[in-house]
Amino acid sequence: MSVPSSEKIKRFAVIGNPIAHSKSPSIHSAFAQLTGVQLSYETLEAPIDDFKGTIEQLQEAGWDGCNVTVPFKEQAWQIADERSLFAQRAGAANTLMFRDDGSIYADNTDGSGLVRDLKHNLLLELKNKRILLLGAGGAVRGVLEPLLAEKPAALFIANRTAVKAVALAEDFAGVGVISGGGFDSIEGQFDLIINGTAASLQGELPPLPDDCLAEKGACYDMMYATKPTAFMLWGQQHRAGLVADGMGMLVEQAADAFDVWHGVRPETLTVLAGLREGVMS
Ligand code: ATR
Repeated sequence: MSVPSSEKIKRFAVIGNPIAHSKSPSIHSAFAQLTGVQLSYETLEAPIDDFKGTIEQLQEAGWDGCNVTVPFKEQAWQIADERSLFAQRAGAANTLMFRDDGSIYADNTDGSGLVRDLKHNLLLELKNKRILLLGAGGAVRGVLEPLLAEKPAALFIANRTAVKAVALAEDFAGVGVISGGGFDSIEGQFDLIINGTAASLQGELPPLPDDCLAEKGACYDMMYATKPTAFMLWGQQHRAGLVADGMGMLVEQAADAFDVWHGVRPETLTVLAGLREGVMS
């Protein structure tokens, strides 16, 4: 469906600090072409100490919404007037919609994007599987609710600082079979290991027991880079059935945000292929 050109072009941005290298403008522009929605989408670097002021300026100027990334996701959650179910418990938001009445609606599409990539793109079964989630920061908290909604047999959160993993698991205790601890408390084998630590950014690898990956198990890094991360190499060395980076999660969370704003979920595979082939930046 194409939108008449006389209709107001909706304005969006991805806000972070730093933000220059974000792929979100390319992704949303490609979605716009695929769906016939007219929009503009830019990167915007908010001052570290004035995220709220930046949002207020956008609202006053009549913008329609924004994506939010590091380090503002918690603040984005705080300034919202209404939150989606997933955003509520995530304590962080990556998608804001500015409503005509001045109120702000917040969603968190990181977890739904991750689950979509795992199930639809990588064809991984999550129900009744054992999942090991590495890390206990904002990135991991943001994906817990959608992951638990898939009803895995067990979800263990392992973190360098064990108490944070235990506390996070306690927060989500009512939602599914979840527990947490240090890397030294990892026991048994897992069908899927997801790395949500910032270790990949530093080229480091969380200390994993050699035998924690089930035969043909999958290793998924929520990060992506031009080269495989240390965790992805670990997966290859430990004969994982599948090793993936977080590029698919990036595209799928963007598609869910697009759906929140425009009421249509774009097809994602051509965009994902374009990013992987370097045709899109
Ligand atoms: P994010 O919002 O990206 O999750 P964060 O909230 O600062 O960022 O969390 C970073 C996560 O990566 C934490 O789980 C952190 O472990 P600690 O809680 O012990 O700090 C983890 N992390 C960072 N560097 C790491 C490393 N080199 N090895 C293992 N874990 C690491």
